[in-house]
Amino acid sequence: MSDRKATLSIDGIDEAIELPIYSGTIGPDVVDVGALTSKGMFTYDPGFVSTAACESQITFIDGGKGTLLHRGYPIDQLANQSDYLETCYLLLYGELPSAEEKETFVTTITNHTMVHAQLATFFNGFRRDAHPMAIMCGVVGALSAFYHDSLDINDAKHREIAAHRLIAKMPTLAAMVYKYNIGQPFMYPDNSMDYAENFLHMMFGNPCEPSNVSPVLAKAMDRIFILHADHEQNASTSTVRLAGSSGANPFACIAAGIAALWGPSHGGANEAVLEMLEEIGDVYHIDEYVARAKDKNDPFRLMGFGHRVYKNFDPRAKVMKESADEVLAELGIENDPLLAIAKRLEEIALEDEYFIEKKLYPNVDFYSGIILKAMGIPTSMFTVIFAVGRTVGWIAHWHEMISGSYRIGRPRQLYTGYAQRDFTPMDER
Ligand code: CMC
Repeated sequence: MSDRKATLSIDGIDEAIELPIYSGTIGPDVVDVGALTSKGMFTYDPGFVSTAACESQITFIDGGKGTLLHRGYPIDQLANQSDYLETCYLLLYGELPSAEEKETFVTTITNHTMVHAQLATFFNGFRRDAHPMAIMCGVVGALSAFYHDSLDINDAKHREIAAHRLIAKMPTLAAMVYKYNIGQPFMYPDNSMDYAENFLHMMFGNPCEPSNVSPVLAKAMDRIFILHADHEQNASTSTVRLAGSSGANPFACIAAGIAALWGPSHGGANEAVLEMLEEIGDVYHIDEYVARAKDKNDPFRLMGFGHRVYKNFDPRAKVMKESADEVLAELGIENDPLLAIAKRLEEIALEDEYFIEKKLYPNVDFYSGIILKAMGIPTSMFTVIFAVGRTVGWIAHWHEMISGSYRIGRPRQLYTGYAQRDFTPMDER
């Protein structure tokens, strides 16, 4: 916080309005505009481009420099030296765990991996070809009907159990969605495996054969989870906070976050990247699509490029690119036509004046789509995997909000509809 103030003079209001300025640890200062309401004015900021909606200590992004810090630790250090559950602990509790704390946390999460047997019956209500994200919205929201003992949001212990349950059960539910789609039996979690290995076991294993998960692929999946773990106040996290600000239970809030993540401008982009590569179909068609992306009159955008906050290389994309190379080498994939298109697109976007000038770099979804496809994960599951990784971020933000002081989120509007008018009876219309 600082003693600096902004002074705002408004046409028609005699007195200037003094607005406090607050400074964070790092990052832009913010002007507290709360006093404007008493003067009969609101701020107007569609898309919240210049609006900080909360104070937070979890994650920091410097979009200009391409920096992403979780509790102060750079994402590349976490991706290279930590693992997903340790990163979860860091996001939830604020510090890296000691060896003992980590062991206890991993054991706790592992002990919560199974879902209530009755939850399995929910799946039968969905068509077999339902989009996995549609099923995820439903079954994650349904968790609130199964775990009544962790729904009191004012009880810190309840909040913690809900967090553990969500982190533990998301991979199980995600794998169940996939198995339901392809008509195979659900796999129980194997608690002798680590988090990412267990997820791949539930996705690709079957009850008739011993599990055989490649350590290289398990490591790549763990990294994908780390790289998606949190991203400060993005659309889905803000949705979770907004839903939570009404006092809604955590399972319902996370279901709301999943719904927000689904859109192609957010988590749905990794799925959209692959669809775009398939639509392009051949390196010879790339120029045509790049021209369309640059044409203001064409709504087509290059999926996997650009970011609201990063105006430099997405630091997650750098690590993801390394992982992509490892996974492709492990799987012996060299001549995949979609990968050839992806590589050429990347080259063009990094050289082309339009993309350079607008600072449109490949984002995390560009490379994660490529890795997931190489692993044999169907495109429609990509955003589900993003949701599994992001669950810890959502729950950490929800917990931070509920354990501090907060008010119900209630944005205002610039109303441009009719002023008051009298009802016209039917025979006079
Ligand atoms: N292809 C072509 N042009 C683009 C693209 C793109 N992918 N992204 C932005 N632009 C242009 C846009 O047309 C605009 O041009 P102009 O200034 O001439 O009007 C300019 O760049 C700024 O774009 P914007 O829409 O104002 O930027 P935004 O911050 O509102 O949108 C975005 C950010 C991520 C929604 C957008 O870049 C986009 O739609 N990208 C493709 C979807 C995508 O990959 N999303 C994943 C984001 S990373 C995962 C996550 O964190 O959720």
